[in-house]
Amino acid sequence: MNILVVGAGGREHAICWKLSRSKIVSKIYCAPGNAGIAEIAQCLPIEMLDIAGLASFAKRERIDLTVVGPEDPLTHGIVDEFETQGLRIFGPTREASIIEGSKAFAKEFMRENHIPTAPFKIFDDREEALRFCGDTRYPLVIKADGLAAGKGAIIVNNVEEARETVDRMMVDKIFGEAGSKVIIEDKLIGEEITVMAFTDGKTVLPMLPSQDHKAVRDGDQGPNTGGMGAYCPVPFVTDSLMVDIMDLVLEPTVRGLKARNRTFKGILYAGLMVNDRGPKVIEFNCRFGDPETQVVLPLLENDLAEVFISIVDGNLSLEELTWRDAYAVCVIMASKGYPGTYEKGTLIKGLPTDRRDDKCHVFHAGTKKLDNGIVTNGGRVLGVTGLNANLHDAIAGAYDIADRIKFEGAFYRTDIGQKATRRWGRYAH
Ligand code: AMP
Ligand code: GLY
Repeated sequence: MNILVVGAGGREHAICWKLSRSKIVSKIYCAPGNAGIAEIAQCLPIEMLDIAGLASFAKRERIDLTVVGPEDPLTHGIVDEFETQGLRIFGPTREASIIEGSKAFAKEFMRENHIPTAPFKIFDDREEALRFCGDTRYPLVIKADGLAAGKGAIIVNNVEEARETVDRMMVDKIFGEAGSKVIIEDKLIGEEITVMAFTDGKTVLPMLPSQDHKAVRDGDQGPNTGGMGAYCPVPFVTDSLMVDIMDLVLEPTVRGLKARNRTFKGILYAGLMVNDRGPKVIEFNCRFGDPETQVVLPLLENDLAEVFISIVDGNLSLEELTWRDAYAVCVIMASKGYPGTYEKGTLIKGLPTDRRDDKCHVFHAGTKKLDNGIVTNGGRVLGVTGLNANLHDAIAGAYDIADRIKFEGAFYRTDIGQKATRRWGRYAH
């Protein structure tokens, strides 16, 4: 089978790596890919949003299955276009990916389907939003309705901060048109976790729970990023909590979308706040998480291409997921200045040449191959994943490799995975 993967980040490197181990995959293409992906797939100079270009390539090269990594092509309707042309593609339609594309839709959908989430109000009128800010309790979270690369949610502690944030989103348009509508909701307390699930619109198969680290600095300090590291599985997510997440969140979401003629096929990502009173949804995404994928896929024992095909064909009920009994920890190495402005084109040294897939991976994100070697090409540059039977050694393994990779201005959090060890003590007895 020939596969085309759309995307260019660490998540897509992990997807390509996992597909490269499939018994039924003979060749992998990736558009546009990066320097790491180029070692296992043929990279193509086609942009992710060039849907017509991607479709004509898929037709010409007889691609058997296209797999979409990021949300943008999905919310722009890449799946609808491919299906219209009779091309096989893995991912939700435009109608279904609205669960990520519009937070206002997602919140109203949750309210109607009794899916637990923070109480909220939606405003498309600035005056009304400002009035509400003067007549409520804090802290709150203010969010832009549309896509904002994971940076569209701002926590506010008082009316001044709230009004300033409303104006920055609705008047200054810091997130563009994504901010013409805002959601104001209660700030939730607890631990933030990720549960992703495979679904064909009927059957829901959850993956192992993972935990991202969104803030740029140790101890969750500094601004939010796309994600600075992750680990999997999360020890304090017990079997009974997973049952609640399935029964209260994932199943009703898939059923509710189907009932609204927005059948969701692909990866449903639930960002959840959990505490003693159970899970509440912070956000839904319509695709694999980044960097969660870099810790979840290395633990999946199934043939990923077979799972994708079962979903496209609507046969997911025939699959059963099995997982390696181990921990995975991913440390993101970023360019100085990220998540603000940063330089590109810095030479990366010390990339490991020997591969031990059972022990570690170096997933590339913003990298590019030049004549003199591999250089940085983005804010998040590499995701170093360590694997081990115990969490402590998985953390040590990831940092051991990260410490040996050098590029000017490189930085990474030094506390990835520590939340699990802290919590483990509390939940152990
Ligand atoms: P979102 O854009 O909805 O994914 O939110 C981005 C980040 O803001 C989340 O990953 C959380 O860390 C934080 N956040 C969003 N909504 C809430 C909330 N209601 N309570 C607490 N934290 C939140
Ligand atoms: N890690 C967060 C996301 O993929 O949206």
